[in-house]
This record gives sequence, structure tokens and C-alpha cells, in this order.
Amino acid sequence: MRYQQPKGTFDILPQVPNEEDAWRLSERWQYVEGVIRDLVHAYNYREIRTPIFEMTEVFTSAVGEGSDIVSKEMYTFEDKGKRSLTLRPEGTAPIARAFVENHLVGFGQHHKLYYIGPYFRYDRPQAGRFRQFHQFGVEAIGQKAPEQDVEVIDMMCELYRRLHIPNYTIFLNSLGGEECRVRFLEKLKAFLEPRKEALSEDSRNRLIKNPLRILDSKDPNDRAVLQGAPSIQECLSEEAEAHFTSVRRGLDILKIPYQVAPGLVRGLDYYNHSVFEATSSVLGAQNAIGAGGRYDGLLRRFGGPTLPGVGFAIGLERLLSTMQGVKAPFPPSPHPFIYIIPLGERARELCLSLVCRLRHSGIPAEIFYQPPKLQKRLQEVDKRGTPYCLILGDEEIASGRAALKEMQQRTDETISLTNIEVEIKTLWQRTNARTI
Ligand code: HAM
Repeated sequence: MRYQQPKGTFDILPQVPNEEDAWRLSERWQYVEGVIRDLVHAYNYREIRTPIFEMTEVFTSAVGEGSDIVSKEMYTFEDKGKRSLTLRPEGTAPIARAFVENHLVGFGQHHKLYYIGPYFRYDRPQAGRFRQFHQFGVEAIGQKAPEQDVEVIDMMCELYRRLHIPNYTIFLNSLGGEECRVRFLEKLKAFLEPRKEALSEDSRNRLIKNPLRILDSKDPNDRAVLQGAPSIQECLSEEAEAHFTSVRRGLDILKIPYQVAPGLVRGLDYYNHSVFEATSSVLGAQNAIGAGGRYDGLLRRFGGPTLPGVGFAIGLERLLSTMQGVKAPFPPSPHPFIYIIPLGERARELCLSLVCRLRHSGIPAEIFYQPPKLQKRLQEVDKRGTPYCLILGDEEIASGRAALKEMQQRTDETISLTNIEVEIKTLWQRTNARTI
């Protein structure tokens, strides 16, 4: 039997087989996650972690039975206690559940939460679409003001800026409040019913289960039918219209370019008012690098308070692929400051304690434990870009001095064994001072 990763999953590795897979390098993931942690700090968001699986109803009730996610894509299983559980396909519903269950409202009316982690959707895998993928997301709970919508969109764009991603477009729409949606759905159904024979099979099904989704169908026949369809904008209440205008104004003030997209409805039931999506021009069909919106009634669905919410989630695989596509810079790979090569039995003992002491003082150090072929070891050190290499053999022990090689300039010096640790620490401090 050949063991393989499950379809639609991938490994994140310290080394990858070819340049195309560079987005799977663990160092790149750590770098992006580090930039995200600085970003959330700047915007004052705090971390929330929820379980990888939830009771299935968390998703059926919040994301909606008619959504693709719930109707086709969930990894649902029964546990040994005969409970129906689902690997989380998205983060907003579990956070709403956790918010209500842990009574976070008791700590105040405004909460800004973020999360990074794996999500699961059973869909046909293709470039940029995985069955296990990762999202960075934020949820701002308790703030009705349109500035909050602007803040999360700005935050998304600021992450792209910090990661040097220039080629993306923000699409924006308003779904209005509950009453706008009901009015619009009536109009839309009345328009589509007499034309349903011309719709694709998927859209005919959606006409019963989730007619809004027909609006973002990519099928050319559906697009033709949708010419002249009513627009949700016509059904916005005064209040919804005012909210949308303020969001647009806020984005204009911040000089964030966007396009109003009346067909953007998003696939999840909990949305109302602002919805948005960022697409990258360097990705293929799966080009959404982030998306989100407002969900003012979601907490109530979980028996919680009437608090509004708005947030987004960004797919990290697509983010990293986009960075690769635009040749965004990544920091160089970290490497040890010094390699230690013992030659002989006594030297091994001395070197083992030296390397540990250096590490305990926070100096990245590496040692070759195996009996070495010196030349081969030096080549290896060279390849890894480590600046210093210390060679210690029985001869050096006898003379009381070890050989220190500076790998870039190819210079050699000898340092006294009695204060070897102090000498290396001084070198480390000097090198750090130069690079700061
Ligand atoms: P979503 O649009 O379903 O929204 O997913 C957000 C992002 O996750 C997408 O734009 C994409 O980058 C990434 N993504 C989704 N599915 C996959 C997949 N199969 N493979 C790779 N990447 C994927 C949500 O999940 C909402 N919870 C966002 C939100 C937060 N709305 C409000 N707050």
C-alpha cells in the first residue's frame, strides 16, 4: 500500500520539491502569520480559538440549508455517542456560537476577535481550492456603525499592502436588512419563474432553495436570463441605503478603491447589509483571496443578544499563491549563527556542552554529531549560509585554541578554549548590532 495525503490536502514543509510549490514552505507560512499577528495588534483584535468540529446544527442553522457549503460540502460524521458533528467549513458561525455560549457579552458590548486555523470543505479540488484549507479571519461584534465595515475592509487591504500584494480588486454590495431581502426575493422570484426553463439545472434548484445565489452564477445561459433582473439596490430601505452610502464614503475617504457589484450575494445565509470580496488577478478560477460582510442577526440565532457583527476571512493558500505570483518578497531563511564540528572523541564531549550553552544563551547553534568528513561538512555549512564554523579536534584541545572560520570572507582565526563561549557571544552581539 502506498500512503498518500488525502485528496485536496497538502503538506506544509521546510523544503519543497520544486519552485512551483514554494507557497508550501513552512517559513513562508510563519512569515505571513507573523505579519498577521502584527496587523491584528495594530487594529486591536484579540484571538479566539474554537474546536475544529462543532455540532452540525451550528452550520445548518447559521450558514443555511440552501447554501453550497451546507448542502454539498460539509464533512459530517456521527461520533460514537451518535451525535452529528461537522468539521468546521467556516469560522463565523462557530465564533457566534462560542460568543453566546461563553457569555462574552458580559465583558462588554464591543468585541474584536481574530482567528487563524484549518477549515474543511468537501468540494472538487482544483488550483486554489482545497478540502482542508486555512483562513485568517476577524469578527467585530457589537458595532453597528458603518465605520466598522470600513475598518475591516481597510484591515484586509492593509494586510495585502504589508504582504506586497498589489493586484486585487474589492467588490462591494449591500444585501440590505431582513425586510429588504424578503422584498427583493419576491421580486426576483417573480422575474425568474417565467424564465426558469432557460436557467441551468443548478439555478433551477436554487430557485427553490436559495434564489439569491442565482445572481452570482457564472453560467452564460443564466447570465443571459439575468439581464434586466431586478437589482437588490432597488429594494434597500432608507436605513440600509444610508448605511451603504456611509460605507462607500468611508472607503473613499481612506482612498480604498472598490467596485459596486450588484450581483455579489455571497453564499452564506447569515449576511445582511455590506458584503464584499477581494479577488486576485494572478490566480485562476478560484481567485477570491478574501471575503466577508455584515451579519447583524446571527448571534440571535444562537439564542444570544441582539448584537450586530461584521468580519472577513482570507484563504491563506490563495494569499501565499498570490504572493508567489506577484513575486512578493519573503525574508531569507533563518540559519544557525555557528556550526560546530568536533573531530575526535574528547572534542565531541566538549562541543556538546558548548553547543548547548550557546543555545541556552539564545544563540542559534548547530553541531555535527557523526564522525565527520571535514571537507563535506564545510561545504554543507557553506550551502546553508551560516556565518561561522568552529572546528575542534584533539589537536586544538591539546593547544588550547580552536579554529574559527568566517564563511563569507573565508578567513580563519584561532580562539582560546578558556573563553570560547564569551568570544562567540561577542561575535553574535556584534553581528546583530550590524544587522539592526
Ligand atoms: P468564504 O467566502 O466562504 O467566507 O471564505 C473566505 C475565504 O476563504 C475565500 O475568499 C477563500 O480565500 C478561502 N476559501 C474558501 N474556500 C476555500 C477552499 N475550498 N480552498 C481554499 N481557500 C478557500 C467565509 O468563510 C466567511 N466565514 C467569511 C466571513 C467572516 N464573513 C464574515 N466574517
